[in-house]
Formats: sequence, C-alpha cells, structure tokens
Amino acid sequence: MAKHYLQFRDLTREEYDYLFRRTAVIKERFERYQPYHPLADRTLAMIFEKSSTRTRLSFEAGMHQLGGTAIYLNTRDTQLGRGEPVEDAAEVISRMVDIVMIRTFEQDIIERFASHSRVPLINGLTNEYHPCQILADIYTYIETRGSIQGKTVTWIGDSNNMCNTWLQAAEILDFNVHVSTPPGYEVEPERANLYGTDHYESFADPMDACRGADLVTTDVWTSMGFEAENAARQKAFADWQVDAEMMALAKPDALFMHCLPAHRGEEVAAEVIDGPQSVVWEEAANRLHAQKALMEYLLLGKVED
Ligand code: CP
Ligand code: NVA
Repeated sequence: MAKHYLQFRDLTREEYDYLFRRTAVIKERFERYQPYHPLADRTLAMIFEKSSTRTRLSFEAGMHQLGGTAIYLNTRDTQLGRGEPVEDAAEVISRMVDIVMIRTFEQDIIERFASHSRVPLINGLTNEYHPCQILADIYTYIETRGSIQGKTVTWIGDSNNMCNTWLQAAEILDFNVHVSTPPGYEVEPERANLYGTDHYESFADPMDACRGADLVTTDVWTSMGFEAENAARQKAFADWQVDAEMMALAKPDALFMHCLPAHRGEEVAAEVIDGPQSVVWEEAANRLHAQKALMEYLLLGKVED
C-alpha cells in the first residue's frame, strides 16, 4: 500500500526527526550545486483546484532537482472540473505517474482520492490542513533556533488549515500552542482531528497569547474558498493584527512566521513581517527542500547517503 501524507498526523515523531535531518542534507547539496537525482524517471502529478505560487513552484522545481518530472493539472482544464468522480481520476492518474500532490477544498476529497490511488498522495492544502507548510515551518524553526520540543508557538487569527496543522504538530513533536481567535472563529478540535487539548491553550486577548512565545505566527483573515465571508471577517479580525506591541510581549529572540501570501496592514503589520524577527523568506524557501525530503521518503523510504 502506498504511503500518503494527507495530514500532519500521518507521520510519527521519529519519521519527522528523519525528515528534518534529510532536509538539511538535501538543502546543503542544493546550495553546493551538487546534482542529486534519486527520483530520475519518476513523475509527479500536481492537481490544483485553488491558486498557488509557492506550492506549485516548490513541488515542480523540487521534482526537477531530484531528477524527475512534474506535470501541472488544474480543475479548469481537466475532466475533474466537468464532474469526473475523484475516485475515477485517482484510478487513472495513479496508473500513469509515481506520486501525486493535490490542493483542493474539503479534506474528504483527498481522502477519497487516496483510497483509490496506487501511488503516494500529498496534501498541498485543503480547507482543513496544510501539512507541507508546517513541515517547512518547523524545519525553519529548528534550523534557526534548534529543537522545537517544549517551546511555545503563538497562533493569532483564524482557526484555519494552518492553525489546525500547528495543533496536530504540537501533539506529535511535543510543543505548546497559544491560540487567539476572534469570537466565533475558535478552534474546532474535531475538525483539527486532535488527540486531546493538552498541547494548546486558548486566549481571548491576543496580547496574552503572545506572552513568552518562542514563535509568533499568523495567516490571512480570509482563506481561499471563504471569500464570501470577507467583509464580516475584516470587521471581526481587526484586533488580531500581529504588530510590534504583540511581538514585544514574546521572548526577545522570538521568530515571526507567515506562510504567505500576506496582507500587510491586515493580519500583520509591515514593521513585523519586514522586521528583524521575521523569517518568512527562509520559511518559503524551505518548502522546496522539506518537500524534496518528503517526496524522497514517500517513494524510496529512508535514505542515509
Ligand atoms: N504558502 C503557500 O502555500 O503558498 P501558495 O498558496 O503560493 O502555494
Ligand atoms: N490559509 C490560507 C493559506 C494559503 C497558503 C488559505 O487556505 O488560503
């Protein structure tokens, strides 16, 4: 049976330790211009039902860098957009390529694809989760500051796909999340698919959530697929902007992360995202290397060379 990566919980702590080590090796080779082609002759199909810059580029460039080929498909000009059942698409696509990445709406869609796929399937973002982003974010934290175990990550804003994935990661890698969302946008533990509530704490006041944080992170107020709620969200989230005042309550060496794209003046002040504590460019760049390690692992298992 193919090994899939549909949510952060799909891998163990031991597998993440391996992936973070492997990401560093693959990144170092890339930076030395050392060719590394373990996926020669392998093909990745990337299916996008939502927009993307980073995810498309990092998977496509990453597959090329590992010696393979990537094919971009979107809903608009495939039969998926004309009602072909996702199960049928999975049967066909997984007979033609070696690995698949999907960005779509409900998690149920990728679960259904996975159950009919002969090859590994990677979640490139759903309404519920964004595991590849958190993989890169945690790698970036470790690369910059060392182990994340026991640290405090503060999540400010919407309890969206990024927030849910941080909460899952906290359980697996044993760190804490302080969450502050506006009323009506709270975490739904069932949707986040958590084991319990031990690894996170909710705060009504976002300032309180930032106290003592090792990492402060946020995301757009309106995620893709929720555009109809934009006007209401702009009002509800107005006090949930990460600004210098909030960062001042975190630890002096706290990092700031954002998965991007960002809206300066909404969820984050320009002085924070463009300031000295921000690692957003490293975070984006690490998508490339973390996902190469992930694809290598799903296709070849552990490689220690
Ligand atoms: N962070 C992220 O997934 O970016 P894209 O939407 O550009 O892929
Ligand atoms: N939460 C955002 C992340 C974009 C990368 C969205 O789903 O639109």
